[in-house]
Amino acid sequence: MTQTLTIRRPDDWHLHLRDGAMLRGLLPETARHFARAIIMPNLVPPVVTGAEAAAYRDRILSARPEGADFTPLMTLYLTEDTDPEDVAAAHASGLVTAVKLYPAGATTNSASGVRDFDRVRPVLERMAEIGMPLCVHGEVTDPEVDIFDREAAFIDRVLDPLRRATPGLRVVMEHITTRQGVDYARDGKDLGATITTHHLVINRNHILVGGIKPHYYCLPVAKREEHRLALRAAATSGDPTFFLGTDSAPHADPAKESSCGCAGCFTATNTMSILADVFEMDNALDRLEGFTSLHGPAFYGLPANDATLTLTRGAPVNYPAKIETGDGPVTVFDPQMPLHWSVS
Ligand code: NCD
Ligand code: ZN
Repeated sequence: MTQTLTIRRPDDWHLHLRDGAMLRGLLPETARHFARAIIMPNLVPPVVTGAEAAAYRDRILSARPEGADFTPLMTLYLTEDTDPEDVAAAHASGLVTAVKLYPAGATTNSASGVRDFDRVRPVLERMAEIGMPLCVHGEVTDPEVDIFDREAAFIDRVLDPLRRATPGLRVVMEHITTRQGVDYARDGKDLGATITTHHLVINRNHILVGGIKPHYYCLPVAKREEHRLALRAAATSGDPTFFLGTDSAPHADPAKESSCGCAGCFTATNTMSILADVFEMDNALDRLEGFTSLHGPAFYGLPANDATLTLTRGAPVNYPAKIETGDGPVTVFDPQMPLHWSVS
C-alpha cells in the first residue's frame, strides 16, 4: 500500500537566493516545491532601499524557470541610515514584506548591520505602527560571548529590551537554535519563530566529531543535543508560533571547504523529504502542514496557498550530492538518514 500525504503548498519564511548565476542555478530547487519565500537581503552590497528591493525582485522573477509558480516576498536590510518613510512606502505598495535586522558582524555579509540599536528606533516605531514584521538574526557579536551562547545572550541583552521599548512590533526570531529561543518565542506576544530543516537534524557533534565538516557549519551554529530536541518538540507541537524558514544558504563548495569556510547549509532541494521523515519519526505527520504551510502565512497575515503538494512514502530516495551552478558546485545538505518520503 502506498502512503501519501497531501498538504497545502509550503512556503519558506527565510531563504537566501543570492544573485547572478547562483540565483539562476538554484531558484528551481526552491520553486519546485515552495509557493513563496521570504528573501534575505544580505547581498553584496545589501538590499537596503525599496528601489534596490524592486530591482532584486525583478532579477528573481526573470530567473524563475518556465511555468514556475513562485512568488518572492522581499525584505529590506536594516542599517543605521535606513529611512522610515522609504520602508513604509515599500511596505504600503506591497513591494516589501518585512525588514531584516542583522547585528553588525553576526553572520555572512552583515557588516552594514546595526551596531547602535537606538539609531534604528524611528524605523522600528514606524514598523510597529503599520504592522510590518521585523525578522531578527538573534545573536550578539560581543567577542567575550562564546559562540554557543550568543543566541541566549541576544534574547536577554537585545531582543527583550527592544520589544519592550517598541510595543506592538511584530518580530520573527529567525532560525532559532536553542531551548531558550523556543521558550522565549512560545511565551511572547507578537512573536513568531522560524526553525530550519537542518537544525531539526544536526547537533554540534555533526560539525566537529570525526573531522571538521564544513557543510554542517551554519549560523547560528548548531548547539547541543538537548537544544535540537527542544527544536524538534517545538516544530512538531502544532504551536502556530513556530514555522519553517529553511535558511537554505548556498555557498559554492570551494568557499565552504576552506581554511575559513563560509557559514550556511543548502537544504532547498531535499527539505520537504527531510521534514516529512522527521515529522513521521516524531509521530506528527498530521502537523507537518501547519509547520510548512499554515503557521507562517497566519503570522504574516497572508492567505495559505490554495495549491497542494503531495508526498509519497516508498523506498528511500536519493538526492544529488551537489547542484552545479554557473558559480560552482553547491553541496546539498546530507541528513545522514534514509529519506522515505518524496514529493510526488
Ligand atoms: C547565511 C548566509 O550565508 O547568507 N548563513 C548562514 O549560516 N545561515 C546568513 C545567515 O542567515 O546567518
Ligand atoms: Zn539566513
